[in-house]
Amino acid sequence: MESFQLTQVIKHIETPVYIYRADTIVENLTFLTTTLSSWIKQKLLIRFAAKANTNRSILQLIAKHGAGVEVVSGGELWRALQAGIPAQDIVFSGVGKTEKDLDFATTEQIDQISVESIEELTLLASLSKNANLCLRICPNVMALTHDKITTGRSSDKFGIALEQLPEAFSIIKDNPHLNFLGFAVHIGSQIQSVQPYQQTFKILADLLKKLPDGLTVKRLDLGGGFFVPYHPHEKPFDWQAYAQAIQEELADFHGELVIEPGRFLVAQAGILLTKILYIKKTTEKTFIIVDAGMNDMMRTSLYGVQHQIVAAHPTQGHKTQRVDVVGPVCESSDYFAKDIELPFDLKQGDYLAITCAGAYGSSLSSTYNSRPLIAEVLIDNKKPYLIRESIPVDHLSTFEIYKALI
Ligand code: LLP
Repeated sequence: MESFQLTQVIKHIETPVYIYRADTIVENLTFLTTTLSSWIKQKLLIRFAAKANTNRSILQLIAKHGAGVEVVSGGELWRALQAGIPAQDIVFSGVGKTEKDLDFATTEQIDQISVESIEELTLLASLSKNANLCLRICPNVMALTHDKITTGRSSDKFGIALEQLPEAFSIIKDNPHLNFLGFAVHIGSQIQSVQPYQQTFKILADLLKKLPDGLTVKRLDLGGGFFVPYHPHEKPFDWQAYAQAIQEELADFHGELVIEPGRFLVAQAGILLTKILYIKKTTEKTFIIVDAGMNDMMRTSLYGVQHQIVAAHPTQGHKTQRVDVVGPVCESSDYFAKDIELPFDLKQGDYLAITCAGAYGSSLSSTYNSRPLIAEVLIDNKKPYLIRESIPVDHLSTFEIYKALI
């Protein structure tokens, strides 16, 4: 992000603040809608995984440039509809959809409900409302990524085991309200190698050959999970190999394909801008204490992953110091980086940018330690726009009441 824009933003808003660059999101999306689509012979539908960033302006920007969304709760579905995303561009996944969620989704006649269990299918069937559905299968593949974001093993809670599919088919066949579109799958997130995808496509191709009479597959939803480099030495996802794997394994499939990218569209478009409160030197370490905490950006405390951190303004010389960058929250897990090199001349009041924070940053944040939900800014056409005001603690505390229930 151009530093003049950051200085302008800092003048008008308190840190910590998320800042996103609209052009990056649009470039990433255009890559999928034009380049990737041109490598794949089937029709390709893009459904942004809204959980990566649920801000209304981001959802609207993405919808304006040709994608729908994938949601995982009644709340996300509501947000998507509020953002003006047509119901026919919405996919609803999740292992714990409530009856209220399913009722909402069927009333709105959304494009696809990805059903994740026999139990959910039974509940959906009992509503006697028209529903377009895909069966999300559990392919039992290792996505070769972080354990906490692996979703396609038989030990994971997601999707329907292949052995249970005959039962699912018989429920669908007996119910005229259930419109079977095909299969969905999502094996995890931040997946670097194309090999687990290829393995999954093989399983899907195999399923297509074994369909019971009377059922046809119009759609395959291949999920998301595409790797994004968080550091300069990491290689970007090999989209060409991904497209090739689709063409090799699913060559005989002539229906439509869906992908659900979350991180890929927004991660690199965002930074978390934070101010240095103190530079605390102990006998062992130098701690740079910043005003952003683990409640604002959970990824490091939750997964132990570090984002690249850079000074948000030019620094003098090349001399560096070895530091830990930590937040003000009262937990030792409240850190953003350990033992990294930052410029030697950093001082109290300077700003740091925690990079690649556009995905699963704001959407995963909380008010832990009674800290506000922080503001979000979108730089669009070189101008900064406030797209979410900070939500202060005094606002949140107005919901804390003492009222007899019975
Ligand atoms: N589709 C489904 C059904 C999903 O559950 C997810 C992400 C996606 C698509 C999008 O995956 P992506 O393209 O963004 O990798 N909080 C974690 C990531 C959790 C991902 C959850 N599901 C993180 O910060 O790394």
